[in-house]
Amino acid sequence: MDKIFINGGNPLKGEVTISGAKNAIVGILPATILAQDVCVIENVPNISDVSMMLRILHQLGARVRHIDETTVEIDSSTINSYVVTHDMTKHLRASYYFIGALLARFGRAKVAMPGGCNFGVRPIDQHIKGFEILGTEVNLKENAMIDADSNGLSGGLIYLDVVSVGATMNLMLAAVKAKGLTVIENAAKEPHIVDLANFLNSMGADVRGAGTDVIKIRGVEKLHGCTYSAIPDQIEAGTFMVAAAATKGEVLIKNVIPKHLESITNKLIQCGVEVEEYDDSLLIKGTCRPKKCNVKTMPHPGFPTDMQPQFTTLLAVAEGTSIVSEGVWDNRFQYVEQLARMGANITVNGKAATVEGVESLNGSPVKADDLRAGAAMLIAGLIAKGTTEIENIVYIDRGYDNVVGKLQALGADIRRVTDDDTPKVVESAG
Ligand code: EPU
Repeated sequence: MDKIFINGGNPLKGEVTISGAKNAIVGILPATILAQDVCVIENVPNISDVSMMLRILHQLGARVRHIDETTVEIDSSTINSYVVTHDMTKHLRASYYFIGALLARFGRAKVAMPGGCNFGVRPIDQHIKGFEILGTEVNLKENAMIDADSNGLSGGLIYLDVVSVGATMNLMLAAVKAKGLTVIENAAKEPHIVDLANFLNSMGADVRGAGTDVIKIRGVEKLHGCTYSAIPDQIEAGTFMVAAAATKGEVLIKNVIPKHLESITNKLIQCGVEVEEYDDSLLIKGTCRPKKCNVKTMPHPGFPTDMQPQFTTLLAVAEGTSIVSEGVWDNRFQYVEQLARMGANITVNGKAATVEGVESLNGSPVKADDLRAGAAMLIAGLIAKGTTEIENIVYIDRGYDNVVGKLQALGADIRRVTDDDTPKVVESAG
């Protein structure tokens, strides 16, 4: 398996450009199915989750072509199947967006259960409830294949019992061509929800209220192709912000939407990090040892759960004791065991961790338990004394575009060692 080796201790310095947002693109790519036309998507990150979504589109019959490194053209007029098999869905959570998109296109979708990073139970009951309200009969075959069938979808009022990014996006996809009005209440408000709505509207949909907790979708008969550029990745940006602060570096983070990063910026400032905000960039200056601070993850606009492992790593070397509470997932502290190997002093009690800041970490062999856990290992390796060797980096490849190259350009002593003989796909992620 490929590994990443880091000799820690170099402060990150320079500029880094953030790629397109994974969690927006994984909704936008299935949404192209609705156009039955050609869509050109720009600012597409080069990550394995995207490659997998493009493979599923290709398998369904779409014509997929890379115009350049970050631009993909998808002609969905040739799609002739509504079946997505387990060998495709097992690789990533976001494969469930094909249910909403195929339902909207064909009134039918047969999609195998999605994979996903293992941080507790990940039910999809809210997706199913919503599809049913829109007039779909959903059958779960041996808990493996979701068979959603309808005689044409009709709008309805869907109140989500929990704020769910996935359910909100999936139901938006299903509803854009449903007859009449669909209202999603208690909707998620993440930037990627707004981005998906903007993309759907660029194709001729009528989606209003995305970014608030009530989204109204008036069904339209037909959508058309368009050219669309995805937003920058909030979590990649946050990861570089924390890495800059943790290494006491000075990094200009370019191609960001500062508003999307406010909860992270705010916590960094509380830790004593200097943050200068510009129109589409942020300058991070980690001038001294970070101070303790308490963090609770919540749905947007709260502090993102997908930044929790990275921020805990910063707090592991902060002055004083911090409490980190996880408000979204039941089991997202598995990576703490890896940090402990490097000398971190963190005690986990259920969905909260007490982080006693230590002076420094020591390099060690560690593994990425999931995507963001992998990002935490990168940050830990950058600050640790000595060499850190990270295994299971296929997880990191799912969500970080050229992370080794970007960190090298910032002065990190980091390299990837490739073992070409080893298969690179794992069973679950994202
Ligand atoms: N939930 C339910 N029922 C449902 C759906 C969700 O009870 O039908 C619960 C979940 O168990 C969880 C909470 O609702 O406790 C939130 O789950 P959500 O549906 O919002 O998560 P998701 O859509 O599966 C996306 C991101 C995750 C990110 C979460 C929360 C994608 C592909 N994944 O997952 O991103 O952690 O939202 O923001 O968009 C990552 O990028 O590393 C990642 C894991």
